Amino acid sequence: MTKNRKLIRRRTFVLGIGAFILASKIKDLNKPSQAASYANRNYAVVGNTPLRDRAATKGLLYGAAVSQRSLAADKTFAERFSQECAILVPESELKWKALRPTPDRFNFDPGDWLAKYARSQGLLMRGHTLVWHEGLPEWFASVVDSRNAQQMLREHIATVVGHYAGKIHSWDVVNEAIDPADGRADGLRQWPWLQFLGPDYIEIAFRAAHEADPQALLVYNDHRLEYDTSEEEARRTAVLKLLERLKSRGTPIHALGMQAHLRGDETRFNAKKLRAFMRDVASFGLKIMITEVDVTDQKLPKDIDTRDRIVAGMYEDYLAVALEEPAVTALLTWGLSDRNTWLSSYKPREDGAPVRPLPLDAQLKRKLAWNAIARAVDNAPIRNQAS
Ligand code: G3I
Repeated sequence: MTKNRKLIRRRTFVLGIGAFILASKIKDLNKPSQAASYANRNYAVVGNTPLRDRAATKGLLYGAAVSQRSLAADKTFAERFSQECAILVPESELKWKALRPTPDRFNFDPGDWLAKYARSQGLLMRGHTLVWHEGLPEWFASVVDSRNAQQMLREHIATVVGHYAGKIHSWDVVNEAIDPADGRADGLRQWPWLQFLGPDYIEIAFRAAHEADPQALLVYNDHRLEYDTSEEEARRTAVLKLLERLKSRGTPIHALGMQAHLRGDETRFNAKKLRAFMRDVASFGLKIMITEVDVTDQKLPKDIDTRDRIVAGMYEDYLAVALEEPAVTALLTWGLSDRNTWLSSYKPREDGAPVRPLPLDAQLKRKLAWNAIARAVDNAPIRNQAS
């Protein structure tokens, strides 16, 4: 009798699991594919107004990351850049590796070139970035230790921020300090500054930056905050904890930078969760800048029209939610044209086709991604003023 019951229970369980799997398969079949859901979207945009002007009417800044090399060597690109952008951010020129060839020497030439260029074109300039685990010079590991760490950090920030004082709209003071995978309860990344100075290195950096340029907006910038995955949920939680801690200690921090390197093949987007996260950030009295948007098409179909539609759909879905948040003051893409993008070398396609992650194509023509950004900006609520 008992044996029979056990058998029945086991069979019911197995049948139940089977039915569940079948139901989810049917649900998957019924779900329109990502390509299909973007295929018929109407990306029409009213008028030819550049992104910078569309954004300005909403009290937003639009701009992009750029390298000194691409602006200096490519006149046509430089012209398009100034037409579309109101703000630039040096892609690498202000990172430790670029600025500090040796422990004692600072090379400000490329950064100064960009600052001069920005000024001559009436563009604002961001600073990126003072504290980041990547982009460090080779000498760093053998020179910085727990005895000199605080002095090195303060000196670097005082020198660099001081050098550009009055010329920088906003500094990414600390970049990507969160990595829950490292196993700490506070979600902080385990890396040399933390090892040498403890979690206070973040506050030290913000205070030093504020001292060197009291006018600049000071930003904590981070990535992988966009999707509804357990990893990104853990990141959002840790970022909120960090921001709350910094604010409660009176740290001079003014904004969260959300990088938003989007993935064309990632479907786990949850508008409600993103909205709630951004509301929580704003409730600390912080602004939000969308600092590095692009959409990798590494794993998307080869057909250009299909690919461009998915990339555009991803831009529009994300920005429609992000720009709804009144605390957002600026939107920057990580590059302007497919002619120059880090994704060509960091996330190339297996089929060797050139990647198409940015608003303009390699010929500097507007793509559907441009339309998608323009539409999201046009639909965004008006802020008081760009800042
Ligand atoms: O400057 C050297 C040059 O002298 C040398 O000839 C050349 C040979 O490869 O390398 C040049 O350095 C490269 C540098 O970009 C400047 O172009 C590095 O190899 C290359 O690794 C570096 O990549 C940059 C990366 O950050 C690391 O600093 C990417 O262009 C840049 O797009 C990327 O940007 C990051 C943001 O800062 C933070 N958020 C994520 C984003 C994408 O990874």
